Parts: sequence; C-alpha cells; structure tokens
Amino acid sequence: MQQEIVSLRQQFQSDLKPVNTSADLESVKVKYLGKKGPVQNLMKLLKDVPAEQRPEAGKWINDLKEEISETLSAKLHQLINVEEKSQLSKEKIDISLPGRRHFSGRKHIVTQTMDEIIDIMIGLGFSVQYGPEIDSEYYNFEALNFAPDHPARDMQDTFYISPQTLLRTHTSNVQARVMETNPPPLRIISPGTAYRNEDITARSHVMFHQIEAFYVDENVSFADLFSTMQAFLDKFFEPGIPTRYRPSYFPFVEPGLEVDIRCISCNGQGCMLCKHTGWLEIAGAGMIHPEVLKNCNIDPEKFSGFAWGMGIERPAILKYGINDIRIFMENDVRFLSQFHKF
Ligand code: DAH
Repeated sequence: MQQEIVSLRQQFQSDLKPVNTSADLESVKVKYLGKKGPVQNLMKLLKDVPAEQRPEAGKWINDLKEEISETLSAKLHQLINVEEKSQLSKEKIDISLPGRRHFSGRKHIVTQTMDEIIDIMIGLGFSVQYGPEIDSEYYNFEALNFAPDHPARDMQDTFYISPQTLLRTHTSNVQARVMETNPPPLRIISPGTAYRNEDITARSHVMFHQIEAFYVDENVSFADLFSTMQAFLDKFFEPGIPTRYRPSYFPFVEPGLEVDIRCISCNGQGCMLCKHTGWLEIAGAGMIHPEVLKNCNIDPEKFSGFAWGMGIERPAILKYGINDIRIFMENDVRFLSQFHKF
C-alpha cells in the first residue's frame, strides 16, 4: 500500500507539472480525486489490509488525499492569478489612441443661405411668413394679375395637380395671402420651395428655393426699393457692391425690374460666370401693381409697395463658386460637408 501511495504521489506530481490552465487543472483534479480515481480505489482496497494496520493505512490515504487537494488549490490560485492578469492586459485601454470621430449633421447649404438672408432681412425690419407649396391658381396667378392666357400658366411651366390646384411656381403666392388678411404697413419676407416643369440641367431644376420680400405702406417709393435692396446686397455679398437695375416685365409689378450685381468673380471685367457681361442677375423686383393691391382690398390711391423675388440657389452658387445647380439636390456628403458655418 505504501509503495502504491508513493508511486501515485509521483505520478500526480508529474501530471501536474505541464498544467498551465485552470481547465487542465480541473481534469487533473477529476482524474485523481474523482469517484473512479486512484485515491478512491485505494480506499476500496483498505478492507483487504490486516485490521491492525488499517488505521495507519487509512491515515496515509487521507494524508495523500489532503496533500493532492491542497496542491491543486494552491496551483489553482496561482493559475487564476496569471489568467486574470493576462485578461486584464488584453482589456486595458490605450488612452493615447485617437478618439472615434462622431459624424454630426449640419444644415443644408440651401437652408444656411436661406437663414443668412432671413437674418439680414429681419435686421432690416421684415418679418417672416410662410405660404403653401400646393396652392390655388388664384394665389399663384390670378391675384397677381397674370392674364388668363399668360404663358407662365402654361402646362409646360406649371405642375398642375387639378385644373385649379398647382405646385406654386414662385414664392410670390404669399403676397396676396398676406395682403388680403393684414392691413398695411407690411414688411414681409417669405422663404420656401417653388416648382417648375423645366428640364433639369446644370442651370435649372424642377425644384428650387426663393425668398419673396415686400413692403406696403403709404408713400413707399422706388427709393425704398433701391435702398433696401442695396442694404441687403451690401450685407450678403460685400459693402458697396455695385448694382444695376434693368426694366423688365412681371404682371404683378409696375414698373418691373431685374436687379444685377457687378460680377463677384471678375469684378466686372467679364468672365465665364457673368458670360462676359460683367454683371450677374440676382432678383426680379418692382413696385406692386395697383391691380394686385385692389385684389387684396388695399386702396392703391393711399398705399403703395415694392416687392422682390430672389432665388436661393443662385446667390449660393455665386457666393461659393458652385457650377451645377443639380448638386444641391444630390445629397452628396462630400459636397454638403464643405459648408459648416452654422
Ligand atoms: N416671382 C418672380 C419669379 O419667380 C420673381 C419676382 C419678380 C418676384 C418681381 C417679385 C417681383 O416680387 O416684384 O420669377
């Protein structure tokens, strides 16, 4: 028996030596201390030992059992320690690593431009009114003095939803809506989207943005139009930017004008942007037609007003040197992320 215990102890030690994980250690434990293991076997053999030697032999087996289990638990502690350390070192955080970039959204360049124009106009005493993008033929055309056979009413330009309902072709539809329900004095701007059935090219799109401005009061004159326009252009482009007014025709103003600024790319020398004219068209404007005032129950003998309409994409194109209007609609982040003023 003693001999067997000695060889078992040796075998255990040699099995234990190569163990370096707690899982392997568990197999060694099962092998030696399990129900069918060698220590348990020795116990079974005890009954064959002569009675007078039995207590001593029992003690040897118990000592061996205890020794094995103490060795195992000491080794287990040691292994767990090593394993925890290596786990921790795997999990450790390298605080010198660069952080992950978070993508934050920002306003679309059209919205940024619109906000900038709105801010300037609010500073000049105007307030903002929004109007519907789906509107009646009346507010888009009739109230604005468009003759029934005016070419702008043509199906080619206008998206009709029904014979009387359409997608507004300009933000001027807000004029009559505001004027018929609010008495002068009125200083209003109205930003928004407008639609026209046009070919989509680098220079035109079916969907675009405008901002309408109008001022109605007693004694509003051309001088008010010029000075307000200049104050706006000074702020939006550059102080003292030269302007030019050309006679033009819009049914809802009389006289009607087109407003040009001196080309900001070539300073009037002539370039591709201004098609070698030295000027860039920026807005339509004029004195509100007496018929429009009458349509809104405003007495044209007592009141007068000016109005202008300006695209949003066009000033943005000029200001930022963009050469294709379609890019505004494409939502290409490489383009959009270049504008992060707000
Ligand atoms: N509504 C016109 C357009 O879309 C622009 C315009 C011209 C607006 C003259 C005005 C104006 O208020 O007075 O082409």
